Amino acid sequence: MNKRTITFELLVFDSFDELSSVDKTLMKSAIEARENAYAPYSNFRVGAAVLLKNGEVVVGNNQENASYPSGLCAERVAVFQAGARFPGITIKSIAISAASKDYVVSDPAAPCGNCRQSISEYEVRQGSSIALLMMGETGKVLKCSSVADILPLAFDSSYLR
Ligand code: THU
Repeated sequence: MNKRTITFELLVFDSFDELSSVDKTLMKSAIEARENAYAPYSNFRVGAAVLLKNGEVVVGNNQENASYPSGLCAERVAVFQAGARFPGITIKSIAISAASKDYVVSDPAAPCGNCRQSISEYEVRQGSSIALLMMGETGKVLKCSSVADILPLAFDSSYLR
């Protein structure tokens, strides 16, 4: 038996102001997109902005549904839209921001498991890492350099033969 330890590096910025100008611009797009979320059931608005290699930014926000499981998270709305509008163009990074109508979200919003799996599909397919920037409404911003870091041992197409 061998023991393996999986570690990853996470950058923790004290606030939005510490981000690079490229990351600030992307996060601003996510914050703007957040405002157009359709979240009447949870009151929890999430915005996501996808930066592509060709410089395009594609945004998404959570779209809820009276039949709760039929809604979709901001991250998947954004990456699926990027895949639909710019097929085959590499995704460089994704910024995510969350806010609630009921309280101040000061913890960075990390993508849910389903979104991690969906983003992982794009990462594996394009053969290069997708960086993730995560923030709430205010407070610290987290940055990881690959979705694989937060979804170790991911299931991918190599299992399907
Ligand atoms: N949500 C996202 O948009 N992204 C996530 O990664 C986590 C959760 C949305 C789904 C739902 O509309 C609301 O936040 C509360 O779960």
